This record gives sequence, structure tokens and C-alpha cells, in this order.
Amino acid sequence: MILLTGSTGFIGARVLRALSEKNLEVRCLVRKPASLEKPNITYITGDVLDYDSLVRATEGIDTVYYFIHMMGNQPKGEQKRFDILDRLAINNTVKACKQNGVKRIIHLTGMRNPYEKLSHHLESRKEVEEIIKNSGIGYTIFRASVIIGRGGAAFDILDTAVRKFPIIPVFNWEKTQVQPIYIDDVIRYLVECLDRKETLNRCFDIGCSQIFTYKELIQQYAEQLGLKRRFIAVPGSWNRLSAAVLGKFSPVNPNVVYWLVESLQNNMVCEPNDLKKIFGFEPLSFSESIRKLEEK
Ligand SMILES: NC(=O)c1ccc[n+]([C@@H]2O[C@H](COP(=O)([O-])OP(=O)(O)OC[C@H]3O[C@@H](n4cnc5c(N)ncnc54)[C@H](OP(=O)(O)O)[C@@H]3O)[C@@H](O)[C@H]2O)c1
Repeated sequence: MILLTGSTGFIGARVLRALSEKNLEVRCLVRKPASLEKPNITYITGDVLDYDSLVRATEGIDTVYYFIHMMGNQPKGEQKRFDILDRLAINNTVKACKQNGVKRIIHLTGMRNPYEKLSHHLESRKEVEEIIKNSGIGYTIFRASVIIGRGGAAFDILDTAVRKFPIIPVFNWEKTQVQPIYIDDVIRYLVECLDRKETLNRCFDIGCSQIFTYKELIQQYAEQLGLKRRFIAVPGSWNRLSAAVLGKFSPVNPNVVYWLVESLQNNMVCEPNDLKKIFGFEPLSFSESIRKLEEK
């Protein structure tokens, strides 16, 4: 049986749909009680910050999907401590998994360049990944940059910037490189890895075959939407101001916007891997991803 964490989130909700279509037995850990049970989908109320609830949730479980981050929806006053909460949450999860003999943790995290000084967000994502890898439990970890899908924080911020602002200031992230990926391709990796033994105890960077600077990404997206956008280069980072403006106009939680804006300084380019050989498909190009999204 599978335990799915984060099933109300952008990634978790889509993975749940895909697992349900495969008729797999899934137990979802949710903070608020849910009533939408199906024969193969059950819900257990709990919190990754509450160890006892995790022990109950992992009973009889083989595989745990870990799709949690603490940057957003936390009790008032706790948001600034997201890295401490994320550490506590994954330590609780690993400990409960060990207690109940869970065999594998499947996790999606943020891509990063191992040689760069990382933002707070990416440093914390790296720490969570290391805790999983060093736990002694089997794992499969995927690392993504901007995921092209509505409801994804990074994509919704990009979408807001392009649709709402005819003139876009370009700060010191102008040349930062990024390799985006379409949401359906991410879900396919996350679900199909269940049956691919070769993915056990491995980490994979996932992205389309194209590398963009953030400025090129914004430009391409605007062109595809048929929007004319002008850019003005402004020296400096202006993270707080950018986050305040984007937090006001985008649907994304303002705390999440702030930490993601800070991460714009970090390059997110895939290390080469053998994913095509293992999974037999290549992710869609950026323009194809946008076309698919606009069709939905
Ligand atoms: N979105 C992207 O573009 C992107 C890109 C790269 C990597 N990732 C990675 O993908 C993973 C999932 O991200 P996401 O975008 O799906 O995030 P999300 O939409 O914000 O969802 C986060 C999930 O975590 C749950 N959660 C938060 N605190 C919890 C707690 N204390 N106990 C139990 N559940 C808790 C939330 O449940 P509630 O409904 O109770 O709040 C929600 O279901 C993360 O590891 C992230 O780093 C995402």
C-alpha cells in the first residue's frame, strides 16, 4: 500500500489521480478531514509535524510519496522558520517509516547547481533530500525547476508577470538558466518509477531538452500568448519589492513568492542522466507544454 503526503497540493493531487486510475491502494495523509473516499483511496488525518500521526499513517505501507514543503500554509508566525519545520517534518517521516518498515520514499524536490551558494529555499530542499538519502530507506528522488502547470507556484508567478505587466523589469537574474518541464511529464515520472526498479536509490534532474535564461523564458511565453512585452534592465536584486508586487497580483501565497523570488539567482539545469532509456519518453518542449496548457 502507498502513503501519499501532500495530496491536496499541486503535485500530490495529480499523482493521486494517476494512482487512482491505476487502481492502486492509496492512503492519503491530510491535515483537514476529507470525505471523498473511493474503494482504493482512503484518508487519514494527521500532520507531518506530529510524529504519532505519522506512525499511524505509515502502518502497513510499502511506499511513501513525500510531497511536502513548509514555505506557505503554516500557522501564523511560523512561516519564517520553514527550514526548521521542513527538517522536523522529514525527520519525523523517516523515523515513522523506519518504525513501520517502509521500503521506499519517492520525493520531488527543487533542482540546483551543486557548486553555487543556494537560496534559503533550495538549501532547505537539499537538506530534506540528504535526510531521505541517508535514512537507509530505499528512495527515488526527482529534481525539477519551473513546472509548467496551472496551480504550480513558479508557473503562476511567471504567468502573472507576463500577463499583468506590459513592461517587465529585469533584475540580476537576467542570465540565470532554467530548464522547465511540463506537469504531465513530471507526474508520469513520479508514477511510472513505481514499476522501474532501475530508479531505486537514485536521484534524477528532470527537464525539457531546452535551456533558457529567465528573460528568454518570459519572452517566449509572452510571444506564445501573443503579448508584446518590453524589458528594462535594473541593477540589483530587488527581491523584497518583486515579491511584494508579485505576491499581490499572483494567486500564490506571498511567503512562497518571496522564497521563490530569492531562488531566481540559482541556475537550474539538468545533469545528464539515462531517464530516456529507463522511461522510454522525452519531456515536451516548452512551447508544446504551453500549447497543451492553453488547450486545457
Ligand atoms: N510546484 C513546483 O513548481 C515545484 C517545482 C519543483 C519541485 N517541487 C516540489 O514538489 C513538492 C510538492 O510541492 P507542491 O508544489 O505540490 O506544493 P503545494 O501545492 O504547496 O502542496 C504542499 C502540500 O503539503 C501539505 N502540507 C503542508 N504542511 C503540512 C503538514 N504540516 N502536514 C501535512 N501536510 C502538509 C499541504 O497540505 P494542506 O492542504 O494541508 O496545506 C499540501 O498538500 C515539494 O517538495 C516541492 O519542493 C515543486
